[in-house]
Amino acid sequence: MGEGGPKGRKVGVTPIAAPLPSLRDTFPHKGGRKIKRPKHDCPLYRRFDAHNMNSRDVPSPINFHKPAQARAWMEHTARKRPWRPEFFRAFAAALNARFVYPLRILELGSGPGQLAAAILKDCRVSQYVALDFSGAMHTLAREQLGHAARRVQFIQRDFRTPAWNAGLGKFDAVLTLQAAHETRHCDRLPQLLCQTRASLKRGGVLLYCDHYRSGALKNPLLYLERNAPPRALQDAGFAHIERILDKGGMALYRAIA
Ligand SMILES: C[S@@+](CC[C@H](N)C(=O)[O-])C[C@H]1O[C@@H](n2cnc3c(N)ncnc32)[C@H](O)[C@@H]1O
Repeated sequence: MGEGGPKGRKVGVTPIAAPLPSLRDTFPHKGGRKIKRPKHDCPLYRRFDAHNMNSRDVPSPINFHKPAQARAWMEHTARKRPWRPEFFRAFAAALNARFVYPLRILELGSGPGQLAAAILKDCRVSQYVALDFSGAMHTLAREQLGHAARRVQFIQRDFRTPAWNAGLGKFDAVLTLQAAHETRHCDRLPQLLCQTRASLKRGGVLLYCDHYRSGALKNPLLYLERNAPPRALQDAGFAHIERILDKGGMALYRAIA
């Protein structure tokens, strides 16, 4: 993918998703009629999370706030996506290729801390801020990280709220893995990306990795098309956007603020 910037382009919040569904398409029991739930690829995904939802959002069938469900997600994803360590290494390599000094890093939707563990092991880090709305995930991350947890600042915030980045300062790098779709609607992604860019120093890097629409992950309200992220990143003001790993229905992009 070529290098390209947003020169002369007004940073926009162009919706990426298909037209919004009616309530009854999104929720299984609205309007007195039983509607088919969206299909998910994970058999653990049974519970809906009503946290900070609005009527357009696709309900999450997993409750990340429950310790048992957070742990079940971690164990399930390790079995289902054994290539995840390859992504961890690609994140670390991308940081090491760009920076030589110790980095101030923010991870969005940091979950059980596995990416943090890899970055703290392989990269020079001055501060690692792990942001997640789930206290249960932070507890799991502390357990997974062991001694390295002392090098992480855990912040419990919802990245769907307008002020999620308030007071955090600017970062050299923002990382996100399998979490952007947790905005629960593609229409929320532009705001998340714009706020992320605002949280980066000039020349800072976003490493953005999420599932794209393929196989069992078909919901157009949650997942972008395989080739859609560059446009979304460009619209949020990022430049020099490059896909650095594409595997198992997940793609990792590097984008410069
Ligand atoms: C699918 S998990 C991925 C976890 C981690 N990035 C990884 O790949 O191991 C999604 C994570 O995003 C967090 N999350 C979901 N919605 C969020 C929100 N609105 N704000 C902050 N964190 C959120 C969940 O608690 C969970 O830890």
